Amino acid sequence: MLDRRVKVKDVQSLGAANYLVTLRSPEQARRVKPGQFLMLKCGEEVDGNPLLRRPFSILDIDHHGRGGSPADIKILVKDVGFGTHKLVHVQPGQELFALGPQGRPFQLAKEMAGEVRTACLVAGGVGIAALYLLAKDLIALGVTPVLFYGARTARELVLRDYFKRLRIRTCYATEDGSMGTRGLVTAPLVRFLKEHHREGVRMYACGPWAMMRETDKLARQFSVPCEVSLEARMGCSLGACMGCVVRTRGDGSSANYIRVCMEGPVISSRLIDWDHPPL
Ligand SMILES: Cc1cc2nc3c(=O)[nH]c(=O)nc-3n(C[C@H](O)[C@H](O)[C@H](O)COP(=O)(O)OP(=O)(O)OC[C@H]3O[C@@H](n4cnc5c(N)ncnc54)[C@H](O)[C@@H]3O)c2cc1C
Ligand code: FES
Repeated sequence: MLDRRVKVKDVQSLGAANYLVTLRSPEQARRVKPGQFLMLKCGEEVDGNPLLRRPFSILDIDHHGRGGSPADIKILVKDVGFGTHKLVHVQPGQELFALGPQGRPFQLAKEMAGEVRTACLVAGGVGIAALYLLAKDLIALGVTPVLFYGARTARELVLRDYFKRLRIRTCYATEDGSMGTRGLVTAPLVRFLKEHHREGVRMYACGPWAMMRETDKLARQFSVPCEVSLEARMGCSLGACMGCVVRTRGDGSSANYIRVCMEGPVISSRLIDWDHPPL
């Protein structure tokens, strides 16, 4: 486990309260697997109490020059509260404490590549951050990713240029109809699953609970394996505080729990008890 003081290289506004933050941390960048996250100390204290670190998916890794070694870690931050507000106002050159990479990544064993032809990446809002490195690795393994990306309005569909550069098929959905299909992202996903042969298809999702719950329902209906990247509020990210637990399907007599920071954040959608969202 690495806990490092990392330098902020750049903070770029993407609109709709989203920011792209670049951190210089070669040692951590070298270890990242798609789906993992960083625990970042966004500030010192609130009302005399230490501010707990906040988890952020690792969006991308930048390399030193062409073909060089991994050097920088990019994260997408939505300014929603005290910690994220502090984070998006850090200045280049400032230092932050970063623990990670943490968590269970997407299961991308090389041997899977032979069985899997198409990967449906299903993103809602900032959930997109968990899926970009995954898309790059899938392409490298010879798998074709298709992105299904939903938000309330077009302005919230950030990082579209990133996926454009990957030259993959993208299906957008907005609740106000300002881009792509009007309504939920699961509508174009259903059409895709109906039109395509489901053998060799996998699903990967990250976004709001309700969206992932619907994605799991479709995965069952169409018998497609699906992994989700869960979100829960985290105290320690080390498996100790139990602050991040999520209910799983028990044996009927009792509930089971997983810790999102240790057994997740990536986990098979079939294991989750979708009737009990985390607090
Ligand atoms: C594994 C993981 C990966 C994440 N990746 C990203 C990412 O890539 N980009 C990003 O912007 N955010 C991400 N988050 C969510 C991010 O950690 C929270 O938005 C952040 O902790 C909020 O801190 P705050 O101090 O600004 O907000 P607070 O003041 O603590 O809370 C403000 C609001 O945010 C909500 N909130 C707080 N924590 C979470 C959470 N974990 N999930 C959902 N809502 C929350 C609260 O309910 C409240 O409404 C991730 C969370 C996890 C667990
Ligand atoms: S955050 Fe403490 S156990 Fe997961």
